[in-house]
Amino acid sequence: MEAAHLTVAITGASGAILGRELLRALEADERVARVHFVASENSLRVLAEELGLSGRNDLLEKLLGAKPAKTVQHADADIGAAIASGSHPSNGMIILPCSMGTLAAIALGLANSLITSAADVTLKERRPLLLCVRETPFNLIHLRNMTLAAEAGATIFPCIPAFYNHPTDSVEMARQFACRVLAHIGLPQPGAYVWKPEE
Ligand SMILES: Cc1cc2nc3c(=O)[nH]c(=O)nc-3n(C[C@H](O)[C@H](O)[C@H](O)COP(=O)(O)O)c2cc1C
Repeated sequence: MEAAHLTVAITGASGAILGRELLRALEADERVARVHFVASENSLRVLAEELGLSGRNDLLEKLLGAKPAKTVQHADADIGAAIASGSHPSNGMIILPCSMGTLAAIALGLANSLITSAADVTLKERRPLLLCVRETPFNLIHLRNMTLAAEAGATIFPCIPAFYNHPTDSVEMARQFACRVLAHIGLPQPGAYVWKPEE
């Protein structure tokens, strides 16, 4: 893969730690040239609840634990940002975690925010779109919207962590989940656990 350009969004579903670990892995990955990051307005509430991060100032730096070198943040209201255009080069988009509200907006093609516009463009350009959905249990509307999005070309990549690697804490579990997501888009991570059945 040539130097990758990716879009990452965090929405207001539970699992902010998964998004944080994904951003950290991308920031450390030399194969990645640029990450465009968007946090939905409602994700800020969940980031505060789950990671103790308050306010939108320096959000990226707080998530990464350092100044970003290649990740740039856009406001979800900035529907004119480059990632909302199909002519902007991109290797795909990951929404982690993806709320049922954002899933619904994408499935219905609303394109009424930067996140849902960028997802809409990703689908029309036939680029990878990973929707890391998180809710439990799912109602029929959620299930139907997942089917609609999958039929339009999205990959439904639910926030279901692995247990066979015996993670000892939530950070390790989140890291492994981020590794699975990145392997799926062609960026296998060094140190990722790979299941090897006994021979
Ligand atoms: C602490 C917390 C956890 C939430 N967890 C979920 C969740 O797992 N899945 C979900 O679809 N919505 C969840 N919600 C509700 C969403 O934040 C809400 O539907 C919001 O409107 C989604 O907006 P967004 O998609 O623009 O981020 C949660 C809300 C809070 C405050």
